[in-house]
Amino acid sequence: MTDTSDELAGNLDFWEQAAASHGTKESDPHYRFDVVVAGGSLMTRMEERAVADATGSPRDDPLAGVRGRDVLYLQSHLGADGVVMARAGARVTCADFSPTALRRVRELAEAAGVDVETVETDSRALPESLHGRFDLVYVTVGAICWIDDLGLWMRQVALALRAGGRLVMVEIHPAYQMVEKRVPDLVVDFPYGGGTGLTETGTGDYADPESTITSTTTCYAHSVADMVNGAIRAGMRVDRLEEHVVSEINPRGDDVLQQGEDGLWRLLVGRGKDEGDAPEPMPVYLTLIATRT
Ligand SMILES: C[S@@+](CC[C@H](N)C(=O)[O-])C[C@H]1O[C@@H](n2cnc3c(N)ncnc32)[C@H](O)[C@@H]1O
Repeated sequence: MTDTSDELAGNLDFWEQAAASHGTKESDPHYRFDVVVAGGSLMTRMEERAVADATGSPRDDPLAGVRGRDVLYLQSHLGADGVVMARAGARVTCADFSPTALRRVRELAEAAGVDVETVETDSRALPESLHGRFDLVYVTVGAICWIDDLGLWMRQVALALRAGGRLVMVEIHPAYQMVEKRVPDLVVDFPYGGGTGLTETGTGDYADPESTITSTTTCYAHSVADMVNGAIRAGMRVDRLEEHVVSEINPRGDDVLQQGEDGLWRLLVGRGKDEGDAPEPMPVYLTLIATRT
């Protein structure tokens, strides 16, 4: 790691602790590795559709197009989706700055009986060994908020792709990221874009309500325009931007999203136009697909 800023060190400390504990306790429902080892997947429909659309696969066989492709799973954390793509026939490299996360990736890959390469790196400075090698760079939920310079990060993505290769990114929508809690009062405490950082000290972890992890972390705000313009300036063509107003996942507890009778989660703020009307849901996730030209 070349950057030894306090912010980066605080974030790495949190992710080292999270990587050691995720998927090891009953109270953490998000990292169900038994499902992956048994041949299943933890990918959401949003993520599967994004990969299907980026690879030209049918949506009912979303990973068909990764067979024989080189996939970089950037900021892979424990790498479950990488293992699933490797099982579907991709050559997968998981990259993360957390050595503990990458050890867990290797353990999961071994338990699932697939090969996955791991590379320890700051995603703002990918090593030359990763340049020009990949058909897909896959990034999902909760990755770019840890990055101060999104333009630099996008340039690393473009460097990793071969010409014609694609970035597939499913991310938290910046409008949702702004909301700290919805009840009893709406609290909006995170800026909308511009790369502004917010440093917080506390105990807890998005995946585990009983977590005792104590950390000082810094997250950075990136707007939709920051993402799209960052990709364009890095030399990529933006093929698709989708904003999702419903979600299958709710990693942040019941204070923000509400679950409907259909089991899906929505960000419902205020009220509808007429008394008794539910408000329209606000965007919660987005998909960005861009091609290195
Ligand atoms: C919320 S996780 C991403 C979620 C992951 N896709 C999953 O499904 O579990 C964020 C990841 O970003 C990694 N990370 C944060 N900052 C990083 C940086 N500057 N360089 C490389 N990895 C970083 C963390 O170690 C962590 O594994």
